[in-house]
Amino acid sequence: CCLCPVPYHIMYCITLCLHVAVCTCKAPFIIFSNRHEIRRIDLHKGEFSVLVPGLRNTIALDFHLNQSTLYWTDVVEDKIYPLTSFEVVIQYGLATPEGLAVDWIAGNIYWVEITGMYSSCILFWTDWDASLPRIEAASMSGEGRRTIHRETGSGGWPNGLTVDYMERRIVWIDARSDAIYSAMYDGSGLIEVLRGHEYLSHPFAVTMYGGEVYWTDWRTNTLAKANKWTGHNVTVVQRTNTQPFDLQVYHPSRQPQGTRRLDGKGPCSHLCLINFNQTFSCACPHLMKLQSDKRTCKESRKFLLYARQIEIRGVDIDNPYYNYIISFTVPDIDNVTVVDYDAVEHRIYWSDVRTQTIKRAFINGTGQQIFKTNLFDCGSEIPPDLPNAHGLAVDWVSRNLFWTSYDANKKQINVARLDGSFKNAVIQGLDKPHCLVVHPLLG
Ligand SMILES: *[C@@H]1O[C@H](CO)[C@@H](O)[C@H](O)[C@H]1NC(C)=O
Ligand SMILES: *[C@@H]1O[C@H](CO)[C@@H](O)[C@H](O)[C@H]1NC(C)=O
Ligand SMILES: *[C@@H]1O[C@H](CO)[C@@H](O)[C@H](O)[C@H]1NC(C)=O
Ligand SMILES: *[C@@H]1O[C@H](CO)[C@@H](O)[C@H](O)[C@H]1NC(C)=O
Ligand SMILES: *[C@@H]1O[C@H](CO)[C@@H](O)[C@H](O)[C@H]1NC(C)=O
Repeated sequence: CCLCPVPYHIMYCITLCLHVAVCTCKAPFIIFSNRHEIRRIDLHKGEFSVLVPGLRNTIALDFHLNQSTLYWTDVVEDKIYPLTSFEVVIQYGLATPEGLAVDWIAGNIYWVEITGMYSSCILFWTDWDASLPRIEAASMSGEGRRTIHRETGSGGWPNGLTVDYMERRIVWIDARSDAIYSAMYDGSGLIEVLRGHEYLSHPFAVTMYGGEVYWTDWRTNTLAKANKWTGHNVTVVQRTNTQPFDLQVYHPSRQPQGTRRLDGKGPCSHLCLINFNQTFSCACPHLMKLQSDKRTCKESRKFLLYARQIEIRGVDIDNPYYNYIISFTVPDIDNVTVVDYDAVEHRIYWSDVRTQTIKRAFINGTGQQIFKTNLFDCGSEIPPDLPNAHGLAVDWVSRNLFWTSYDANKKQINVARLDGSFKNAVIQGLDKPHCLVVHPLLG
């Protein structure tokens, strides 16, 4: 390997599943989030600076070293941002993204909506299932899923997870037993690194660097580190005024490069996901389907649309676990009762009985609007008649929308143009109209 000049006394030869040696002499720094800011601490000089101020509720972060980009999630806005330009990378269909991980080799971002993290070649995640808290692993395309650790003792809230690429181990913290554990990638060789320490009284996130494990702690509001094998030499790296969330050590040794570089899409038309055995799988973004060559994605608009109280999903008809469109969820959805679509304009329409609105959006998640019934009527405002709109149907031929409504006085079936104009009641004096379908071809 190489020799590094002071003060960058870091030198690593790392072999990982892609059979590579990495030699690097860059100064490391810690980045961490404390909900409203992302801060950076120089590990050698101990100085800290604010990288990103003015955030709302930032929990998870990760970086792409080669692109010099930092990614973070915002659970108020449910978005994922990269640092370089502050543009939103993934804006739609995230339900409280708490875990986030960048695949620096293939250039993909992974996130989990509850808790989880991953490493190169292998995706690792934690599951807080009350009866069976566990850590699972799969290839980065989701193949070969298996449980590698089952929590049987006093643990049960595996909170943070990280990979020790040098030792080929995973390291995690458990917020119930307030402990740090380490095990091989297959779950063998389990070690309890540290437990019951003052600065480990409610750990939230964990990372590694060199011979040390770093974590954030909510009860003491600290960032601390200790020896990664013995848990000895617990040292406070920084105290914070507010609860610290995720942390990362920004250094090339934390993103070792493979010999086989997948430059972006590789042989795939869209997403390339690394598998075990140096193979890869191609995957497709929403509204596209993988063709039989297993490489090319083609646009396709056939999916099963369904509504649950606080969610609208469109799933692949053959594989109902595969989300075909982004999911619409809170805060746009409150209590949805009915959903229909207009294939001509690629829109879905739904009725929300709690907010008493009908809304529509494009199936790609953009262009969400509240359906208003007074838009182009001759100046006078027409009451929208939306209470208890349990029935809704799009007439795709005449371009009208029908819906049912009832309250103490008016119980009726309404109609308007799809743009909201010319609202009228077609049938009145009903009792409790509920469901509605149309057959426009028969008039
Ligand atoms: C990113 O990776 C490419 C290919 O290995 C390399 O040529 C380039 O210098 C790297 N860029 C940075 C900023 O490290
Ligand atoms: C603890 O840290 C000190 C100073 O960094 C070092 O000299 C000592 O060897 C460390 N002890 C252990 C057990 O790692
Ligand atoms: C990896 O390769 C081995 C031997 O070639 C094979 O048995 C195994 O199924 C492969 N694993 C995957 C996930 O393809
Ligand atoms: C949602 O709407 C259904 C049907 O009107 C109603 O029974 C239920 O109480 C509502 N739930 C909430 C949380 O408003
Ligand atoms: C979403 O779909 C609409 C209608 O097909 C289209 O006009 C719009 O450009 C799309 N937006 C994005 C971001 O793809």
